[in-house]
Amino acid sequence: MILERNSAMSASEMKQRLSDLDEKDRPKLDIDEITEFVNLMQTYEGAMYEISTKLDVLDTEFQVRFSHNPIHHMERRLKSVDSLIGKLHRKNLPVTIPSVRDHIFDVAGVRVICNYRDDVYSVSRYLSDQSDIQVLRVKDYIRNPKMNGYRSLHVIYAVPVFLTSGPHYTPVEVQFRTIAMDYWASLEHQLRYKSDLPDARLAEHSQTLLDCARSLQNIEVQMQSIHRDISGSPQEQDS
Ligand code: GTP
Ligand code: MG
Repeated sequence: MILERNSAMSASEMKQRLSDLDEKDRPKLDIDEITEFVNLMQTYEGAMYEISTKLDVLDTEFQVRFSHNPIHHMERRLKSVDSLIGKLHRKNLPVTIPSVRDHIFDVAGVRVICNYRDDVYSVSRYLSDQSDIQVLRVKDYIRNPKMNGYRSLHVIYAVPVFLTSGPHYTPVEVQFRTIAMDYWASLEHQLRYKSDLPDARLAEHSQTLLDCARSLQNIEVQMQSIHRDISGSPQEQDS
């Protein structure tokens, strides 16, 4: 199952979105640049589809061979124009097409929610080993969780998207995580945007969330162990 968060815009929708922005945030793009930007977003969309199709194929193969679906569901999204501009501002980069192309690697994003931790490592490894795509960057917050308790495996892939002009290697950020990691990250994300809470309450909730992250990790290890014992799926030796 793939949940769509949003998809590429037509040139006219893009022009409308840009003209809706505040004067100070509005990039000074002429019509050719807007068209180029829309084309660029369509390339990112193509890359996102390619990655999710590859993952779907792997999931189906696992089902056929091992009677087990490693992927519970996927989510995919293209970054909105507003958050793209916000990110360029935060990184002190000019709002231009080369800035996006050279510095922003999560314009196309796929989140892969797996049933077990072994599934995270096997699915990501089978994808990373495919000969037509490149691994640009790996951040393993499962082996090295963030201070706040956040866990996920982030991989940035470069995928060839074949356009009339030839192949364009395009980055896609893939976040692999288990259901428990996703459940935790959703609440932590909500808390992060709750800026109206008093500091003491925020600190208390953050501490509780850290405890929850540890408890969920223990539960996952135990459930993984039962699943390993009863399933015929290949086991990841190093996870
Ligand atoms: P930015 O994209 O600029 O943040 O830098 P980055 O791509 O180097 O960051 P990183 O790979 O660490 O994280 C990218 C994404 O992972 C974020 O946009 C979130 O979706 C997710 N993420 C990272 N850290 C956290 C966290 O502490 N809590 C939650 N809920 N999500 C996180
Ligand atoms: Mg990011």
